[in-house]
Amino acid sequence: MSNVRPLKFVTLLGSLRSNSLNAVVAKNLPALAPAGVEITALGSVGEFPYYNGDVHAKGMPDVVVKMGEEIAAADAVIIVTPEYNYSVPGVLKNAIDWLSLLPGKPLSGKPLAIQTASPGAIGGARAQYHLRQSLVFLNAQVVNKPEVMIGQAGSRIDVEAGVISDEGTRQHLTAQLEALAEMARGK
Ligand code: FNR
Repeated sequence: MSNVRPLKFVTLLGSLRSNSLNAVVAKNLPALAPAGVEITALGSVGEFPYYNGDVHAKGMPDVVVKMGEEIAAADAVIIVTPEYNYSVPGVLKNAIDWLSLLPGKPLSGKPLAIQTASPGAIGGARAQYHLRQSLVFLNAQVVNKPEVMIGQAGSRIDVEAGVISDEGTRQHLTAQLEALAEMARGK
């Protein structure tokens, strides 16, 4: 039996939609994880209030504190998100803004992978680079390669069945999770 402790990864989803392509990706990650990696979902970014300095001045909302604690306890974070107007969905950016203000800075130094899925040809690539820009300031350690940008996602993801139907996409996701595990183990 291996005495290496399992790694704990958490997913952060940038879509609130019930039939979300990205939600199907996130939901399938536990089954695609390499040996020794456990993946669970963080709460919904839709539960965060809009960032407002006046609200912040009264104290950090419990939902933000809780997610910050879950991120701090995890070995790595996986952000799975759509691209909106060539950028990051507002709900996800709002959550990142709140999380950035937690005194413990839970994303600082945290291994992190980005995955985007879109019905479009380039799979949300532009949102990834906007997201990376914010994550530089938060000092997250973002996996560079392999990048996961699932284009024409409607033909690779079966939302009704809740599965990633394309074997190549599944393999590519596993390859990125392996890279994230290596980063989290400090290799
Ligand atoms: C989009 N969509 C989109 N897709 C893309 O590849 N690049 C883009 O810039 C945009 N912009 C955009 C803006 C807005 C306001 C919406 C609502 C949608 C399409 C988007 O990728 C598609 O709706 C996905 O299915 C959304 O992801 P989920 O919810 O299926 O995970």
